[in-house]
Amino acid sequence: MLFRATISRTPFSAATLRLGPTAALHPRSLAVSASAAPAAATSFSISDAGLESRGFILHRTVCGLNLDQLNTIFVAVGFPKRDPDKIRIALENTDSLIWIQYEKTQKPVAFARATGDGVFNAIIWDVVVDPSFQGIGLGKAVMERLIDDLVERGITNVALYSEPRVLGFYRPLGFVADPDGIRGMVYSRKQKKK
Ligand SMILES: CC(C)(COP(=O)(O)OP(=O)(O)OC[C@H]1O[C@@H](n2cnc3c(N)ncnc32)[C@H](O)[C@@H]1OP(=O)(O)O)[C@@H](O)C(=O)NCCC(=O)NCCS
Repeated sequence: MLFRATISRTPFSAATLRLGPTAALHPRSLAVSASAAPAAATSFSISDAGLESRGFILHRTVCGLNLDQLNTIFVAVGFPKRDPDKIRIALENTDSLIWIQYEKTQKPVAFARATGDGVFNAIIWDVVVDPSFQGIGLGKAVMERLIDDLVERGITNVALYSEPRVLGFYRPLGFVADPDGIRGMVYSRKQKKK
């Protein structure tokens, strides 16, 4: 389902980080630029300092992001495993991204990114949290910051595709289905008539 948010300023509510699990280390980094303004003025459900105090490091560029480890999270949540070279290209063409690293293991545990035209429109992709770290506010933390980065850049037409089981995750973040009757459509080759 296509979800869209037309955002003036996202009303992030107060919440707390609830626990902190573990994982293992496999360092491999990639250096590609991705611009995003730090959002110190915005009130997030978990502040940057709050994340840090719980051992989570916030990143707004791909520097230090291990793509194999990111791929492992994709697979763990049921996304198809992707060619790391294609992930690298996708991230090079990504306008804004947020990821969270667990300090203890140095591994990524949460990720979200947005592509778009840089002015009017953006689509959010690959919102994932390592299953061992789900349910403690990290998904909300990356989404709040990604949306804030887009809004800070004046991009207010923000859309995403949501699986039915996560509609309830996106709604409180400001996303609605079919706003003003507008329906998302996806090109489907198998349904194309000759
Ligand atoms: C969906 C996902 C990103 C959520 O991340 P998370 O870190 O587990 O979620 P959070 O702990 O930040 O939850 C934030 C809020 O959303 C709620 N929430 C989380 N997942 C939810 C779901 N599937 N349905 C409804 N509400 C949900 C939480 O209860 C919490 O509510 P609160 O703020 O009132 O306490 C994560 O579960 C995930 O990676 N899932 C697999 C991949 C996936 O489906 N991605 C989305 C593709 S469309």
